[in-house]
Amino acid sequence: MRFFLCFLPLFICFSACQKTSPQQQAAYDIIPLPASMTPQPGHFVLEPGTRIVLEKEAESLREVALYFASVIHEISGFELKVKDKAAKKNNIIFQLDEKIAGDEAYHLSLSASQIIIQSRSARGAFYAIQTLRQLYADQQFPAVEIEDAPRFPYRGMHLDVARHFFDVAAVKRYIDQLAFHKLNHFHWHLTDDQGWRIEIKKYPKLTEIGAFRKGTLIGHYNDQPHQFDGKRYGGFYTQEEIKEVVAYAASRFVTIVPEIEMPGHAQAPLAAYPELGCTGEQLEVWQLWGVSENVYCPKEETFAFLEDVLTEVMALFPGKYIHIGGDESPKTQWEQNAFCQELIRREGLKDEHELQSYFIRRIERFVNSQGRRIIGWDEILEGGLAPNATVMSWRGISGGIEAAQSGHDVIMTPTSHCYLDYYQSDHPDEPLAIGGFIPLEKVYGYEPIPAELEGAARAHVLGAQANLWTEYIPTVEKLDYMIFPRLCALAELVWSPADKRDFDHFAQRLSPHLDRLKGMGIHCANHLYDLNAAIQPQAGKVEVKLNIHAKEGSIHYTRDGSEPTPQSPLYEGPLQLDSSAYIRAQAFRADGKPGRAWEQKIVFHKATGKHIQLTHQPHDKYKGGGNGSVLNGVLGSDERYGDAEWLGFDGNDFEAMIDMGQDAALIKAVHFRFFKGEGQWIYLPAEIHILTSSDGKEFKEIAVQEEISGENKVVEVTMPLHELAVRYLKIIAKNHGTIAPGRQGAGNKAWLFVDELRVY
Ligand code: ACM
Repeated sequence: MRFFLCFLPLFICFSACQKTSPQQQAAYDIIPLPASMTPQPGHFVLEPGTRIVLEKEAESLREVALYFASVIHEISGFELKVKDKAAKKNNIIFQLDEKIAGDEAYHLSLSASQIIIQSRSARGAFYAIQTLRQLYADQQFPAVEIEDAPRFPYRGMHLDVARHFFDVAAVKRYIDQLAFHKLNHFHWHLTDDQGWRIEIKKYPKLTEIGAFRKGTLIGHYNDQPHQFDGKRYGGFYTQEEIKEVVAYAASRFVTIVPEIEMPGHAQAPLAAYPELGCTGEQLEVWQLWGVSENVYCPKEETFAFLEDVLTEVMALFPGKYIHIGGDESPKTQWEQNAFCQELIRREGLKDEHELQSYFIRRIERFVNSQGRRIIGWDEILEGGLAPNATVMSWRGISGGIEAAQSGHDVIMTPTSHCYLDYYQSDHPDEPLAIGGFIPLEKVYGYEPIPAELEGAARAHVLGAQANLWTEYIPTVEKLDYMIFPRLCALAELVWSPADKRDFDHFAQRLSPHLDRLKGMGIHCANHLYDLNAAIQPQAGKVEVKLNIHAKEGSIHYTRDGSEPTPQSPLYEGPLQLDSSAYIRAQAFRADGKPGRAWEQKIVFHKATGKHIQLTHQPHDKYKGGGNGSVLNGVLGSDERYGDAEWLGFDGNDFEAMIDMGQDAALIKAVHFRFFKGEGQWIYLPAEIHILTSSDGKEFKEIAVQEEISGENKVVEVTMPLHELAVRYLKIIAKNHGTIAPGRQGAGNKAWLFVDELRVY
């Protein structure tokens, strides 16, 4: 933070650190940032007599001009008329301009005397209106010249209405917010194990039975034992309601991508029609989160059923894409089912993955025959990709890279940056979320085109999307909290030019934008004044760095656990600790309001601050604050593994060498912390080995522990040692390995999560 280094009185510091004065600033705080924007002197003042002008040639913009009149009414109370002739002054003129490149592009020429909106289609004019909505304040628009166009054609948000149901009003409100941020695709996840949400006339039991479950899991999946609330829960959209939402979205230039999951995530439809499954067993709509083993059986009745369902779906949704799911489909039932095995043999398929590919190809052929295209999650690459499919890359970016390199379109939505159901803050007061950690700056920093792609393959990346899975999101308020402000970051990365992306500038614009959203009744999260801490070993000491994203305010701290006040020491740079401390810190805003309090105990043990070297690096998504996070004297969260303390290894062992320093330390025990979250495929290690060495080359094993178990989310293990003088310590925690059938994540490599290694 630049200004924490300045010793001037704060009020001088604030203005010195702003790019422009606060007043000027607020006026042009547009998100997503336009491609080109040149502020001009003066303001256009809105008056009751201001005229919206639609010249004859621009008749195709009438609807959008009327929509603009309704927006003006909403924000100012004025009822402006749409006329075909300009008045002497104070006109807002819509013009068609064929020379503007792209349907979504627009020019906005805003002076004190008039506003001219030019576009080649209603779509571009609609986006100009969204910009005007953000420019408006106190009955005026600041003068500006804007030339704007999106970076990507696919700019999406997803919403899971299966785990929790959101009614038509909530969905329209969601679509409004997409449009306000210039997003143009709404991925509507309509079916899953826990509920079927769309009326299908030919199969009424899908909603009579499949839309309701007998209860819902209480708390988190990782809380053991599982408990359910016993309350019937559900809902669905009638076809009339779907048509209403489709029309509403069209009026906001948002295309809906409906998703009908197959062959997995199908327990709700199988509860309605068990004959379409592999076991024929009468099932209930699932009450648990996770991935059900119950999947569609690839028999002719199933294909006939799915084609009927998709026929009704395609009649309701006019967009090019139909999403057919394809993710997380367990193969156990297919392996055990005689019909599936016979089909594999008859079709000359290699295994159940090729059977999944056979399933998706058949569905693709049908969807293509109706003039539409399929989108599937990246598992549809396994066993061979259907010829015309678009891939949604979610388990990382490699699926997207592979698909784009083989000439398929892709939409990037990796769990590393685009899962807005993950925690956005590691503060202990944060409301319950599924796991992970994707703060605002992480979303903002996402680049949708992978560096590995070259030439024509780059153009296959149509854009990016953020996903909102709703296991832990039962209300509209929580939904708002999870998506805002991260949706704003997504909007900017898919709309604005890559070379204009600047997180500090974004954070500066975000503050007034959050006020704007609050004014619209949105329950945004605001972590701009939360402290972000980086605590890392540094040559035997521990360095504590603090910052906030807000562009004003100051941080004050104490070291002894007492409450910080504006009179406490001002944080001016990283703190260096050489013994245990209890740091408490808080940001204080210019208006005197405090930010959220932060505190951290840092407890020194014999390895705190020492140098650590790992044989296998943690996964990019779970590398904490760096490898030193396991020797910084700080314990990670007991509830979540996505913070700056836990290191996560995808299939690999944790293998570390610690240099205890010149004066070989006398050690009596090593204490471990592992995370257990089987719902997220996180398993305890199979065994732990401790080795020592005097030269860092030749190691001798001194202790082994097998059969590590525990019921809690965090499992602690202490390995006592005979008092030993140790220079180099090697620790190997063996990964659980491939997950056995019947357990969450079956067939996949397990994750291993490791926190502080305390050495005594
Ligand atoms: C997914 O998150 N299962 C696509």
